[in-house]
Amino acid sequence: MPDDLLKGIDRSWAAADPAALVPGHAARQAELEGLDPALAGLYARGAGVLAGAPDAAALHERTVALLGRERGVVTRALAGLPELPLEERKRRGRGLNLLKRWLEELERAKRAELERAAESREVLDVTLPGRRPWVGRAHVLAQVRDELLDLFHGLGYSVYTSPEVESEEYNFARLNFAPDHPARDAQDTYFVAPGVVLRTHTSPGWVRAMEERRPPLRLVFPGRVYRAEQVDASHMDQFHQLDGLCVDRDVSLADLKSTLNTFARSIYGAGVRTRLVPVYFPFVEPGAQLDVACAICDGSGRARSAAGEGRCPVCKGSGWSELLGAGMVHPNVLRAVGYDPEEVTGFAFGMGLERIAMARHGIPEIRLFLENDVRFLNQF
Ligand code: DAH
Repeated sequence: MPDDLLKGIDRSWAAADPAALVPGHAARQAELEGLDPALAGLYARGAGVLAGAPDAAALHERTVALLGRERGVVTRALAGLPELPLEERKRRGRGLNLLKRWLEELERAKRAELERAAESREVLDVTLPGRRPWVGRAHVLAQVRDELLDLFHGLGYSVYTSPEVESEEYNFARLNFAPDHPARDAQDTYFVAPGVVLRTHTSPGWVRAMEERRPPLRLVFPGRVYRAEQVDASHMDQFHQLDGLCVDRDVSLADLKSTLNTFARSIYGAGVRTRLVPVYFPFVEPGAQLDVACAICDGSGRARSAAGEGRCPVCKGSGWSELLGAGMVHPNVLRAVGYDPEEVTGFAFGMGLERIAMARHGIPEIRLFLENDVRFLNQF
């Protein structure tokens, strides 16, 4: 009979010595040997495969095969008892009860051993190589801004911040924009309420600073600005600017030029070529733009591509790219804040931070700055 029962135990299951799990194992084996040698063989095999279970799933499978209530080896052996003669039935019944209890005990001991092993695998291994913690960094535009603030700090400028929600009066009128200037159109500017706009440039900061303070002034105005733009690869409806303002006695265009050249050399390197071209802005007179020699074609206006040599696609053949607006503060702007243009003069300049970052890092798409994709931001 036990030979038949042995078939319930898969032959391929690896066995191990149960002695380490149950201290009295050898004595138990001997006791069954004396009582019922057939059961002793069944116990040896059953105890071996429980001890040899490689993991919790295997242990469960083996336990079901041995001790399962419906089809388990022990259950089936008990079911065969009534067929036996009385004496043999008593002996086997006693033997089976021992076998059942000892296998159950072994199963508990094995399960505890597997759990201990799983826990110890989770223990900290101090010999593993360290994992670097993820460290954040300043946004690429913040890096450019901080570099500029640092540069102008060295030239004696301090930082002045002014509101992003600005009155139409400060954004336009006090900067000498005519009432019918096209920038004041709702097509170009976001109106929050009648007479209230999202500032379209950081220049209104000058007016606030000049109203609050008396010359001499050396200030920079960093911040976010808004325009009702059609969004594309080089236009966003919000971006960043940095204006600068210097007001004092005897400030001249020569001071502006040397300040701008110091700035351009610091950003583009000592060899950079620049030019100052007259341009109209309502709040300066004369007004100008500062151009730098195109970084792509080095000022030649010609560039080589797969199609052969042709017009440089970045500066559109001009050899120059526009870096910022600048000029001497318009007397009307000085008068509007109560300064006497006969006594003090000033220069100002304003630049876009996205444009500087794009030129410096070769970033082709302005929308990347706001998408907050770490794969982009991590590169800077
Ligand atoms: N505020 C101008 C703009 O947003 C840029 C500018 C031009 C600023 C000339 C200045 C300046 O300070 O002097 O387009």
